[in-house]
Amino acid sequence: MKVFLFPGSFDPFTSGHRDIAKRASKMCDKLVVAIMHNDVKHPFFTVEERVEMARKSLEKYDNIEVIAKDGLLVDLFRELNCSSVVRGIRSESDFRYETEMFAANRLLESTYDVVLLPCRADLSFTSSSIVREVGHYGGDISKMVPSEIHDFVATSLKKGRT
Ligand code: PNS
Repeated sequence: MKVFLFPGSFDPFTSGHRDIAKRASKMCDKLVVAIMHNDVKHPFFTVEERVEMARKSLEKYDNIEVIAKDGLLVDLFRELNCSSVVRGIRSESDFRYETEMFAANRLLESTYDVVLLPCRADLSFTSSSIVREVGHYGGDISKMVPSEIHDFVATSLKKGRT
């Protein structure tokens, strides 16, 4: 069974993430979307909220599972017996970051590999941080996040965290 792993902060899950997950799910038997911790980021949404948002956005895809996991990506990669990790790239800077991550992870696990999927042109400016900023000021995020989670994301961002 070919298992792909799509890790990220997903803070929040965006239409870009959904497009990558949908395309990657056609390349494997099972796609595991993993909500993980990025040391340089302080997430707005809780882990539970991020899991719920990803699950709601992906519920129509039978071979996609959403989990939350702490620790190193390579440990999860081994645990799930993955064939490859999947990451979406929007720009040259994403590409540079992903090749660095690949090199580091490959040092830790010699079977580690990654499939880099270019994002759709119409979603190339959609990122979780842009969604957070636009949503915070009450702007229209309807094209940036899946419709299933739009109201929750918009309301949470407008309200802010106390
Ligand atoms: O969506 P992001 O924030 O770009 O995702 C980054 C993520 C969570 C995939 C990355 O920070 C990660 O792999 N975190 C787990 C800890 C780890 O293995 N760090 C070493 C990476 S070389």
